[in-house]
Amino acid sequence: EKGTYPHYMLKEIDEQPLVIRKIVQAYQDINGELTVDSDIVNALNESDRVYIIAAGTSYHAGLVGKQLIENMAKVPVEVHVSSEFGYNMPLLSEKPLFVFISQSGETADSRAVLVKVKELGYKSLTITNVPGSTLSREADYTLLLHAGPEIAVASTKAYTAQIAVLSILANVSAKSRGIAQSLDLVHELGIVANAIEVLCDSKEEMEKIAREYLTVTRNCFFIGRSIDHYVGLEGALKLKEISYIQAEGFAGGELKHGTIALIEEGTPVIALATQANVNWSIRGNVKEVAARGAYPCIISMKGLDTEGDRFVIPEVHELLTPLVSVIPLQLIAYYAALHRDCDVDKPRNLAKSVTVE
Ligand code: M6R
Repeated sequence: EKGTYPHYMLKEIDEQPLVIRKIVQAYQDINGELTVDSDIVNALNESDRVYIIAAGTSYHAGLVGKQLIENMAKVPVEVHVSSEFGYNMPLLSEKPLFVFISQSGETADSRAVLVKVKELGYKSLTITNVPGSTLSREADYTLLLHAGPEIAVASTKAYTAQIAVLSILANVSAKSRGIAQSLDLVHELGIVANAIEVLCDSKEEMEKIAREYLTVTRNCFFIGRSIDHYVGLEGALKLKEISYIQAEGFAGGELKHGTIALIEEGTPVIALATQANVNWSIRGNVKEVAARGAYPCIISMKGLDTEGDRFVIPEVHELLTPLVSVIPLQLIAYYAALHRDCDVDKPRNLAKSVTVE
């Protein structure tokens, strides 16, 4: 039930700090150490390449997952949109592990890939919110999201839950393989949960940004580099899905290769700047679009040079920023949809789970 909330989406956004804490608890052993079923960890450690298969928001979580698994566990990862992979399979490595990410566990496009992969005899893991769902039953292994039911069509808490679970999988695999790394993930995810809480308390500011940038516009661009680019893709999907504003996420450096032609006087460009190594270059991209009349909104992270930025998120570990930087984008999309009188929880033409190919 949505209780006192006007929409499920807002309730589910607010649940995210609790979801992160619940996930940490669910994956802790009695000594407080993060743990994942050893069969799953072995399957990952024995594979020479992970293929993440997913759709929509879950695909965007997969892109972040690639970053986490490659950085922590040092296993190469490819991320594929399920509807494409099924019909245009890349050349596979010798020992692939397939990871299906699906909130519902019922997405037909992903299931079609799982059926093929099983025929080929490859191992599969499903990361889902729904125990006993089709993808969970049919894969060799399952990891649960523990996010509680997600009712709003626009996925919010499932995205952060997926990233949190992927970070745990990557961390446990790294530890089991003796990879030296200093990340105390229980501690870092605690910091993330607190940061999300702070952002959930910034609704007024997000409402203002949505009003200022998105009330009348026809389109909006999200730019970022590296992991911020992936979060920008998710921010754009969220915005277009519920507010019907045409929104696109681009790698910061890519706009000038064509899309910058669309920038007009006042075009909103939301730029994410949470990564130290690309901080300088993303700001360069913001200058490029601003010089063509864009109306930029920089969302950056504390600890970097943030002077003059529209909104600054609390500092978290650089690999975990998507868990935090997505929150303002979810809230901005929510308020933009409200301001434009859209049906937030049930956007037109969409179903919560897409059970047809
Ligand atoms: O249940 P799934 O995670 O497999 O669903 C995948 C997509 O259909 C889903 O994430 C969709 O993109 C959301 N409506 C986005 O908010």
